Amino acid sequence: MDKALLSRTAAAMVAQGKGILAADESSGTCEKRFQSVGVACTEENRRSYRGLLFSTPGIEQYVSGVILYDETIRQKASDGTPFAQYLEKKGIIPGIKVDKGAVDLPFCPGEKVTEGLDGLAKRLAEYFQMGARFAKWRAVIAIGSGIPTHTCLYANAHALARYAALCQAASIVPIIEPEVLLDGNHTVERCEEVTEATLRACYAALAAYNVSFEHTILKSSMVVSGKDCPRQAGVDEVAERSLRVLKRTVPAAQPGVVFLSGGQSDVDATAHLNAMAAMPGRPWPLTFSYSRALQNPALKTWRGQAANVQAAQQAFHHRARMNGLAAQGKWKPELEKQVA
Ligand code: 13P
Repeated sequence: MDKALLSRTAAAMVAQGKGILAADESSGTCEKRFQSVGVACTEENRRSYRGLLFSTPGIEQYVSGVILYDETIRQKASDGTPFAQYLEKKGIIPGIKVDKGAVDLPFCPGEKVTEGLDGLAKRLAEYFQMGARFAKWRAVIAIGSGIPTHTCLYANAHALARYAALCQAASIVPIIEPEVLLDGNHTVERCEEVTEATLRACYAALAAYNVSFEHTILKSSMVVSGKDCPRQAGVDEVAERSLRVLKRTVPAAQPGVVFLSGGQSDVDATAHLNAMAAMPGRPWPLTFSYSRALQNPALKTWRGQAANVQAAQQAFHHRARMNGLAAQGKWKPELEKQVA
């Protein structure tokens, strides 16, 4: 365990004005995204699309790290450089998704637990050799009638903690991602309650497995109203509730907190981050680790056509720049019109 390397990596992941691009969609998720724009989900199309994102000029100003998928870390950029080294040369830290997805949790209808611990130490050693310096594991927590159960929170928190300990032992910074899902008609108050219980369970488990908070990054969902709730909380309410929960549960020793976009609109995800970053009195830097909210406009512009690559890169650059500003509380809605 190289503590100095872990500290350097964690600090660089949340460097001022920068955040993380989540480009670790599994091939199944990629298929859905590609289908929505009429692109065949072949290995080569996945490579070209990721290459388009990574080779966007100037992106390193806003992107500190990229979460890769197992297939992607084994692929190469058009100039023949493996993607991990390609990113490293641009000053972007390569990361890797190491969980194997969520499966049904027995005796807990509607709930899931994330798999992927078996053989993880070996996989982490290989990923480290390939250049990965941080990792991600996503747990999913659904809100509904009678759920989440204590069983679900407990099972997922323990899996996250075991994963985190294995990562740190391999000198890889673990991103702890317990995602409270947006789906449902629950209120924002209920989301706050569930997010707090989820984070409490996670930090109790991390402590139980001797995980070092100093070398861990939290990837949290924001406290928002359920997608189908008639009352949708506004930007300031989302920011206040999200920060309140984080302050109650996340140790100040942690180097930073990043957010997932979780199905929010691109601009909502930016506005929410901006409002939180503008609030004083936080012990940790906050930034983005978005997939959809960073990639949607680029994917829709690209549509699998080589002729659209430049325009797609501009769309990606714009979202990355907007979110880089939001991470510093410097974003304004008017800036959305100024595509650089
Ligand atoms: P979204 O920003 O699309 O929620 O994706 C982030 C992520 O990495 C989910 O695991």
